[in-house]
Amino acid sequence: MRGLFYFWPMLKKLEEYEKQIQELVIASKEDLENFRLQFLSKKGIIPKLFTAFRDVPNEQKKEFGQKLNVLKNLAETKFKDLQSGLKSGGATVDPNIDLTVPPFPTEIGTRHPVNMVRREIVSIFERIGFSVSEGPEIEDDWHNFSALNFPPEHPARDMQDTFFVAKDPDMALRTHTSSVQVRVMENQKPPIRTISPGRVFRNEAISARAHCIFHQVEGLYIDKNVSFADMKDTLLYFAREFYGPETKIRLRPSYFPFTEPSAEMDVYWGLETEADYRITKGTGWLEVLGCGMVDPNVLKSCGIDPEVYSGFAFGMGIERTAMLKYQVKDLRLFFENDKRFLDQFKSAY
Ligand code: DAH
Repeated sequence: MRGLFYFWPMLKKLEEYEKQIQELVIASKEDLENFRLQFLSKKGIIPKLFTAFRDVPNEQKKEFGQKLNVLKNLAETKFKDLQSGLKSGGATVDPNIDLTVPPFPTEIGTRHPVNMVRREIVSIFERIGFSVSEGPEIEDDWHNFSALNFPPEHPARDMQDTFFVAKDPDMALRTHTSSVQVRVMENQKPPIRTISPGRVFRNEAISARAHCIFHQVEGLYIDKNVSFADMKDTLLYFAREFYGPETKIRLRPSYFPFTEPSAEMDVYWGLETEADYRITKGTGWLEVLGCGMVDPNVLKSCGIDPEVYSGFAFGMGIERTAMLKYQVKDLRLFFENDKRFLDQFKSAY
């Protein structure tokens, strides 16, 4: 009886020590030395247990001996591991942390939808030989208005519509990227094939459909014998690349001071759902860009002889195009940088 009474609590103790050693975490050399003193030194727990082993009744010696050897090996291995962990400067690993669990996925950013659409439009025109050109956002009256045949009393020249630069009535934030046409024609000889993406500014109240800053892409093609049919074909190619191979377009007569004749291009959207009715105002058609044959006055202003050369130009709003492509109902979303909105374009890129 005495033997059993003594033996069971001893076995339990062995198990407790085993757990204690397994879970041990150290932070310094001192911790390691304390561990050695506590378990492995001459007066430590393990040698003491070996002494106690002598008094274990014979019939329990086998089980106790095996467990004690396991504990001793565990303590020695643990000591070596901790020691080499400290030497290599590596932190010892908390056994409660499962290193095989996959980490949280790293969040990768995405392009802004306005940027994605701009890149797509640019690449469609690059494929048919258009180059990319840029101009300044703070522009003079000549490049933004006069060279583009805007009459002096045109409403766009009014403070109500345009942001002028204080102290210099000749300078304004450009109201459209058509100003880049003028700069290109002044500096290059035909043939010219170029597109100009960029930011433009208008003195507008901010709403779901209008903003004081937005983006446009301008296109320009000047050469000998360029016709309205060339323009239509180029724009049809663009519409089919951008909106899909079955896309239908139509050109409606319009007016811009810098083109003659001028037109607006619509793409056929469809009239199946209630949303189609709303978006297309019941017509099934959506206006996507303005275009026309470059007015001879504009060619002359830029030093190009209208008797020799002709060409076409077009311009479209990037936000508007992105709204159509991704069915975004409020223009302001493009400027607020709400991550919940932007995250939705991850798959689109
Ligand atoms: N500049 C015009 C706008 O801001 C867009 C435009 C229309 C550009 C016709 C053109 C064009 O080049 O030919 O609304």
